[in-house]
Amino acid sequence: MVKVRVPATSANIGPGFDSMGIALGLYNYVTAEETGGAGLTIKITDSSKSFLPENENNLVYRSMKRVFDITGYKPRGLKLTLKNNIMVTRGLGSSSAGIVGGIVAANRLCGDELSMDELLKLAADIEGHPDNVTPALLGGFTVNVMTKNAIRYVKTELDDKALRFAALVPDFYLQTKKSRGVLPKSVPHGDAVYNTGHSALLTASLISGKYENIRTAVGDKLHQNYRRRLIPNMDSLFRLCYDNGALGVYLSGAGPTIIAIIEADNRAFGCSISRVLLDKMKDWKLHILSPDNIGASIIENN
Ligand code: HSE
Repeated sequence: MVKVRVPATSANIGPGFDSMGIALGLYNYVTAEETGGAGLTIKITDSSKSFLPENENNLVYRSMKRVFDITGYKPRGLKLTLKNNIMVTRGLGSSSAGIVGGIVAANRLCGDELSMDELLKLAADIEGHPDNVTPALLGGFTVNVMTKNAIRYVKTELDDKALRFAALVPDFYLQTKKSRGVLPKSVPHGDAVYNTGHSALLTASLISGKYENIRTAVGDKLHQNYRRRLIPNMDSLFRLCYDNGALGVYLSGAGPTIIAIIEADNRAFGCSISRVLLDKMKDWKLHILSPDNIGASIIENN
């Protein structure tokens, strides 16, 4: 039996479209057991079971199968128990958590045949881009570029005493495919230059602890403006977060979740925002999360 814990992730962080992400302290759990018999049983133990398949189409299982196919391992009957705390289709990396949970569990069952870099490449191939799978696997703040043969990345730990990530999560879904569908095929050169500078500033500021730069550094011209029309109240929620002392606010991944980066000692933020949401926007909920610097981990194995 192997039990894997995988963190939620938030991609882009404003300007780092498809290339930056952070891991957050909210977790899915994948438990995989070989039954000794044959066949596949999948049990989802939370409310996501009403829309996620409990059969061979399940993403966790499909990802495990990729590892078994590569390594030639043949499990003797497989029972999966899945506990999903990461809200599905909200821009918090639930699919990456499924992929990473599946491949890490499968790799342990087959005797850790694949290296971390091979797991990362496989996860990014399944997902299509590396910005969520890298922090899901490794934790921390990651900057990644996908080449034909490998993911080139740098992982840096975030200061979990200094920073919190306030996730404002609405009760509606936004499929990544739909959210990518509103993006233009090309952008003005000036917009590309803007994002190059801002993602460099964001990276340097997060790594060096120069957090007063974050408000400027989360600026983006490649995706957020185009996605705004898919997310009612996006502008007013950004304003609300800044009015309450956020260091920076951005659309998490493809949305619809909005993340405010706040100082850990800004305790008034949670109370004020929760009060406004309760009064005026009951369809949004606030979750204040710490950064996760560990990534996917095997928490039980026997
Ligand atoms: N970088 C991706 C996007 C994240 O913004 O579309 C979603 O998976």
